[in-house]
Amino acid sequence: MHPQTLAIRSNQYFDVADSHCEPIAMTSAYTYESAAAAAARFTGRAPGNVYSRFTNPTVQAFEARAAALDGAESGVAFASGMAAITGIGMAYLKQGDVVACSRDVFGSTLGAFRNYFGGFGVETRAVPLSNLAAWQAALDERVKLVFLESPSNPLLDVGDIPRIAQMAHAVGALLVVDNTLLSPMQQRPLRMGADLVIQSAGKHIDGQGRCLGGLVTGSQEKTRPVRDTLRTLGASLSPMAAWLLLKGLETLDLRVERASRTASRLAAWLERQPGVQAVYHTSLPSHAAHQLALRQQTGHGSVLSFRVAGGQEAAWQLIDAVRLISIATNIGDTRSMVTHPASTTHCRLATDERLRAGITDDLVRLSVGLEHEDDLMEDLEQALALCQGQYVEERLAA
Ligand SMILES: Cc1ncc(COP(=O)(O)O)c(C=O)c1O
Repeated sequence: MHPQTLAIRSNQYFDVADSHCEPIAMTSAYTYESAAAAAARFTGRAPGNVYSRFTNPTVQAFEARAAALDGAESGVAFASGMAAITGIGMAYLKQGDVVACSRDVFGSTLGAFRNYFGGFGVETRAVPLSNLAAWQAALDERVKLVFLESPSNPLLDVGDIPRIAQMAHAVGALLVVDNTLLSPMQQRPLRMGADLVIQSAGKHIDGQGRCLGGLVTGSQEKTRPVRDTLRTLGASLSPMAAWLLLKGLETLDLRVERASRTASRLAAWLERQPGVQAVYHTSLPSHAAHQLALRQQTGHGSVLSFRVAGGQEAAWQLIDAVRLISIATNIGDTRSMVTHPASTTHCRLATDERLRAGITDDLVRLSVGLEHEDDLMEDLEQALALCQGQYVEERLAA
């Protein structure tokens, strides 16, 4: 079946009075016919739910349908994307191990490995995502986990997933790919050799900025240890959030396709605007990762970034001048959002580390939503005119 159909029809579960929409199983506990039946379920001799920290019908429906979309045997849902990443680390890392992690991952991901797993004797090696020689140099038999996010946020750098998978497997490490920026509708890392895929499900999967959630997909064998950490450590997804995410899956394809098409058009348009010094979106032939993205992605995603003349002042003026677009740091919502990465999402990085990662003071990130592209262009056009007008006036006055 096609992904669009799987997202709507796979693993359907209906049991409340023939309802056509899946019910929300808002329950923490489950009942048993007898003491023996309870014992059978607890020991795993009989199937069924025992407690919603372990399993819940609505959460399971979401896990199964999301796994089908990724072409995975199994899915494990968590309360958030960070809980999912922590769950993978708890399952696969122990004292003395090394994580090789792409340098441009979501800030808290690197923070979790360095600051928390580091406290338990796990070493983290940060590797530039697109530099295969650097990956090769960072990998040895102490590395148990290779973690990358591709494309990266906010500069849309791309890692060669099949090549990095080969290198990871050659030293006996697992490759984990954060696929939050594209979703399974535009990238399937498991088909390219990744062992596990994680997503922050509150981004494209929900797609409407309503809830948090995390998801890990992969084979039964590789997801089992991750599920075991969840059962014990307890960062379980709530049934309400699982239901929102299940419904989100049904429109994922349409939303991602439309938002990324608009993002591609805005990126091409921005490249032609005065005062815009660089635009980052893999749909652009000018982007360093354009060819690699065409090989391993089926779309380019809805996040783009651009640099404006006039540094942080002009970037902030532009952000303050938008009328339609929200000033917010989330991604993957129906509503377009603009942010200044240097002073928000990346503000905790030391200045030299931030600049080395390309997060300059003049960089503006846009998460493109589902508004009409003409309205978004009009909003950006007036904001650019304002910030560049002020920039030119200040330069003339100086
Ligand atoms: C690419 C990426 N991965 C992981 C996360 C963490 O997910 P969550 O916020 O659901 O914990 C985020 C959050 O913004 C993200 O953008």
